[in-house]
Parts: sequence; C-alpha cells; structure tokens
Amino acid sequence: MDHIEIEGGVPLRGRVRVSGAKNAVLPILASTLLTAGETRLCNVPCVRDVTTFSQVLQALGAEIHAEQDALLIDTSPVDRYEAPYDLVKTMRASFLVLGPLLARMGHAKVSLPGGCAIGARPVNLHLDGLQALGAHIELAHGYVHAWADRLTGSTITFPSPTVTGTENLMMTATLAEGMTILDNAAREPEVVNLAEVLNRMGARVTGAGSSRLTIQGVRRLQAATHAIIPDRIEGGTFLVAGAITGGEVTIDGCVPTHLSALLHSLQAAGVSVEVGDDWVRVKGMARSSPIDVTTAPYPGFPNDMQAQVMALLTRANGQSVISETVFENRFMHAAELCRMGAEIRLCGAQAIVTGVPTLYGAPVMATDLRASASLILAGLAAKGVTTVSRVYHLDRGYDRIEVKLAGLGAKIRRVL
Ligand code: EPU
Repeated sequence: MDHIEIEGGVPLRGRVRVSGAKNAVLPILASTLLTAGETRLCNVPCVRDVTTFSQVLQALGAEIHAEQDALLIDTSPVDRYEAPYDLVKTMRASFLVLGPLLARMGHAKVSLPGGCAIGARPVNLHLDGLQALGAHIELAHGYVHAWADRLTGSTITFPSPTVTGTENLMMTATLAEGMTILDNAAREPEVVNLAEVLNRMGARVTGAGSSRLTIQGVRRLQAATHAIIPDRIEGGTFLVAGAITGGEVTIDGCVPTHLSALLHSLQAAGVSVEVGDDWVRVKGMARSSPIDVTTAPYPGFPNDMQAQVMALLTRANGQSVISETVFENRFMHAAELCRMGAEIRLCGAQAIVTGVPTLYGAPVMATDLRASASLILAGLAAKGVTTVSRVYHLDRGYDRIEVKLAGLGAKIRRVL
C-alpha cells in the first residue's frame, strides 16, 4: 500500500495554489441529477471522492467526461434510482443523491451510510426533512427507500445545523411545489456555492450564507456551467504547514473571508498573517503560543481544521485546550501524534495539548482524511523521518498534497 515519507525540519517557503473545494463539488455533482442535460463544472479538484461520486452518478446512468480540471456531466440518460451499498459505504457524501433523485424521479433508493471513523454520523435530519416535504420513507435491508407522488414546500427547523442535510433538502425543495423555509440551516461557503449553482440552473433560493434559506419551488431546472469555490480546508492546511515549520507560505486563489476563524486562531498563536484579495501569507516562528480552540459550525472554527491545528499546538510554548463540539470521535490523530513525542491528554470532547520543544519522526497511521493531514504536518516539523501509512484517506480530499508541499521545499515523497 502507498505511504508518504517525510524528512522533517525544513522551513517551507513559497506560494501554492489552492484547488477547488471537495465539500463544494460533491453536493454540486449531486445537483446535476435535478436536470436532464449537460453540466460543465470547472475548478474540480483531482481527489478520490470526486472519482467515487462520478461512479455513483454513472451507476445511475449519467455520462461523465473529464477535461483537465473540468468535468462534463450529462444526466439526460439517467434512468436508475438506486445508489448501491458498495459505493455509498466508501463515501458518506453519496447520500446527497437521495434528495435530487427523489425530486427528479419521484423515487430513490440509497444505501444507509452507517458510521465512520469520526463518529456515528446519523442521517435522521435528512430523512425528517424529506418527510416534511411529503416523501414516504422506508428503511429496509440497509437501504433508505424514498418516494413521493408530489413534493410540497414546508418549513423545516433543524435542531442543529447540518451541512449535507441542508444541501440535500435545499436541492429537493427546488423542485417541490410552493415555498420551503430551512431554519437553523448550515451557513458554510459550500452551501452558498451550491445555492449559486442551483440559481444558475433556474432555481429560486435566497438567504444562502444566513441561517434561514428560502426556496421557492420551480417546475424544472436546466443544466449550466459552474465554477467550484477554492478549498478553504486545503488552503488552511498549507497555512499550518508554513506555520509549523517556521517558514513563510502564501496560498493563492483562495477566499480569505472563508478562512477568518482559522486566521484569528493562527494570529492568537503568534503566527504572522497577511491577507490580500485572493491570497493569504503566514510566517511561522520556532514555537507558537498555546491557544484554546473550540470547533463550531461556520463561521466558527472548522472541525475539518482541528486535527491540523492540534499538530501545530503540539509544539507550542505551553498548554492548549481543543474542544470538539461537532463530532463525538474526532481525536483519532491524537494517539498517533503522541507516538511522535506529542503530549496530549483526552478528556471526553476535549484534548489537552502540552507543547513540547521537539517532535520526532515515526511510522504513523492515518485514520481519516484530516487526521492524515495532521500527521503529515507533524512529520514536516519533526526531527527525522516520518512515514504515514493508509494514505488512501488523504487521497480522498487532497489534490496531490505531496507534490504541492514538495513545491514549497518539503522533503516528502510518495512510496508506491
Ligand atoms: N447530524 C445528525 N443527524 C443528521 C445529520 C447530522 O445528528 O441527520 C449531526 C452529526 O452527527 C454531527 C453534526 O450534526 O454531529 C454536524 O454534522 P453535518 O451533518 O454538518 O456533517 P456532514 O454534512 O456529514 C460535512 C462535511 C464534513 C464536515 C462536516 C462538519 C461534506 C461532504 N462533509 O459533513 O467534512 O466535517 O460537514 O463541518 O460536506 C471532511 O471534509 O473531512 C469532512 C468530514
């Protein structure tokens, strides 16, 4: 199996371009099912989750053609409504096809995604919302079967914000009769990108980016061309790479406001941050200051950056407390970081990180996507050689990360 080998201790320097956002492109791929025509998506990242999602769409009958960083998706041949277990089990986000399939075909059968390495991750809020729009839902043999003769707008209040739940219901409501209001909706930039795409297709979605979305149903949508927003988590990961190695790294082609919570935390940790129109530059120091971080839905501190910032804090000059409020089990990287010399104590949803002067290279194992990134960052700062195994997690969501890091001077290579 592939692994990544890093010889740490090199301060990274230079500029790196951010790819399109994984968590924006996946719901947008699902949204193509709402139309029967050819959609062109630009700035698509070269990551495994996009390949898997394309396979889900192909299993439904879509035809897909890749052109550099663009994807052409023809959904006119779609004639199936079942997303099979074999694909959904490898990527929870496949569950995003449930709403669009139901809205287009009146029928959808999608495997239940089950738990994953970062928590139980139920889908009850997706299902409750679809029922509120008039769908019948049956759970049998590991599948969700949803059907409706007619979907009707409704007011749905999420007990707590859910990103893909908001996206699934927003897509479904575009073709429902009448008006739907989604209250306490997720405000993530990826939700806003999806709303923009839907509106370009002819939908009537307002309020994206606030916690109240209003969707006025329309009879049909048309395929169009869209650009995927830059990946704030990939960009944030490169900023931490600059900070943790005491280097100077500029990320280009990003939306700095999407990174606000992270940039505040980095500044509080003593990292120097400079912001331009579409770039951010950080300058790290030998050891950062300790900080307390609490993850929260956007615009709060993103839980998708928690593991990477934990790596940074392992070398801070004092004790930091990281509180994880979004997922119940997202500290799997802590034990691996400890194998590199970090001092981390877990107390329920909190990690108490006592900074140490030096991390040491070690063989470590990735357990999920962001945990893999955290181990790579620690490896870049550590003394000696780190090998990160199970990098298929990394490949799900980072576009050639080792090539981009090598471009910043890192001694990193993929061993096949
Ligand atoms: N939740 C429920 N019931 C539901 C849905 C969610 O209880 O029906 C709970 C979850 O268990 C969790 C909280 O609500 O405690 C928030 O989860 P959310 O639904 O927002 O997560 P998600 O939509 O499954 C997306 C991203 C994740 C990211 C989270 C939180 C995509 C494809 N995935 O997941 O990204 O961590 O939002 O920001 O957008 C990643 O990229 O590494 C990743 C895991």
